[in-house]
Amino acid sequence: MHHFKYRQNTLFCEDVSIQDISAKIGTPFYVYSYATLKRHFQVFDAAFEDVSKLICYSAKANTNLTVLKIFADLGCGLDIVSGGELYRGLMAGFSPDRIVYSGVGKRVDEIDYALETGILMFNVESPVELELINRRAGELKKRAPVAIRVNPDVDPKTHAYISTGLAKNKFGIPVDEALHEYLHAKEMENIKIVGVSCHIGSQLTQIDPFIEALRKVKKFVSRLTQEGIQIQYLDLGGGVGITYDDEQPPHPVDYAAAIKAELKDMDCTLILEPGRVITGNAGVLITEVQYTKVNSGGEKEKRFVIVDAAMNDLARPALYSAYHEILPAQEPAENTVQQEVDVVGPICETGDFMARDRMMPEVQPGELLAIMSCGAYGFSMSSTYNSRPKVAEVLVDGDQFRIIRQRESYEDLVRGEDLSTLP
Ligand code: LLP
Repeated sequence: MHHFKYRQNTLFCEDVSIQDISAKIGTPFYVYSYATLKRHFQVFDAAFEDVSKLICYSAKANTNLTVLKIFADLGCGLDIVSGGELYRGLMAGFSPDRIVYSGVGKRVDEIDYALETGILMFNVESPVELELINRRAGELKKRAPVAIRVNPDVDPKTHAYISTGLAKNKFGIPVDEALHEYLHAKEMENIKIVGVSCHIGSQLTQIDPFIEALRKVKKFVSRLTQEGIQIQYLDLGGGVGITYDDEQPPHPVDYAAAIKAELKDMDCTLILEPGRVITGNAGVLITEVQYTKVNSGGEKEKRFVIVDAAMNDLARPALYSAYHEILPAQEPAENTVQQEVDVVGPICETGDFMARDRMMPEVQPGELLAIMSCGAYGFSMSSTYNSRPKVAEVLVDGDQFRIIRQRESYEDLVRGEDLSTLP
């Protein structure tokens, strides 16, 4: 459910027309719907309201400060994977005791920063990291709260690049070896064991892999109990998918029901780290058609729609061959010719496409297109490749919109570079 709809053939975000925003700020830009962000969080949160839980929004999906603040204000916690995300999270107003920190490569300075901040827990991903956190905590006269991220070796049945719970993936500690680490951690002077964590992947469209992982984790937790290790938090990560095309991911209510059914006999606080399911369908990327052209040299005539957004602005199609629906901001007349096109950006790479072999109504230069479902892993994965300044981000609330990140300028592009260092 989202708030991007046509009204009299014109695409609106809530009560603001996309055309109006574009007329004021130019293209490309990301636009997020406040009502959708809020609703998605509240639906997810409410689905777990009858259990002791903490929802930690996964910052990486969309790290804009205003977006983060919306969730902080709704009482949400935060899942971070870097010092930068911690910095943003604190700035946006998240309370440190609602922040969990995952990631296989935490640097010393990042560990120190999190220890000084006093976060809820580190999700530790390797024996060496555990040693390091223990050492740093001792140095800083702190006791580090940790969960060990266990790798349950479960196939999440998603794209290989975003599958994290298989034994061959770099994440976590194999569930069979984790007991040894917990026993080790128990003896460490500056470590306080508070939880167990697990995250098997992203854009999961079935419930079964979550449950398979949870059963393994549950078994592991009872093994810990036998060893006299009580855990306070069970962190099941994120991963619930969304509809980009025709996927039918579980509704949060069904996902929650399945998890709660498994957890009946457990006495701990559940942590969840949803990202995409909260922000994914709450944002779109607006781009303007620059040119159309037909290349007829090959086996088959190819039609291209060249737009002003590119793989640096939205990496998902290039990186994962991801599908994003593309809608014209002005709904075409019913008799408009449909054409098979590649929607491509200006970047000098053949991989720079937003859609390939897509049937779309014919479009003309100057028309606006909305690339749908870009609220998660859209702007947050953007870069300035080809020296393209990062685009603006806009938040719509009812009939109002505001720029929540200015479009970068050419000056922004070269900030920090210093020609005077040449001899
Ligand atoms: N927790 C951990 C430890 C994670 O690694 C992730 C995502 C999440 C939570 C949130 O997962 P979500 O609920 O959003 O599925 N760039 C990719 C997605 C990468 C996901 C990485 N980890 C994409 O655009 O599809």
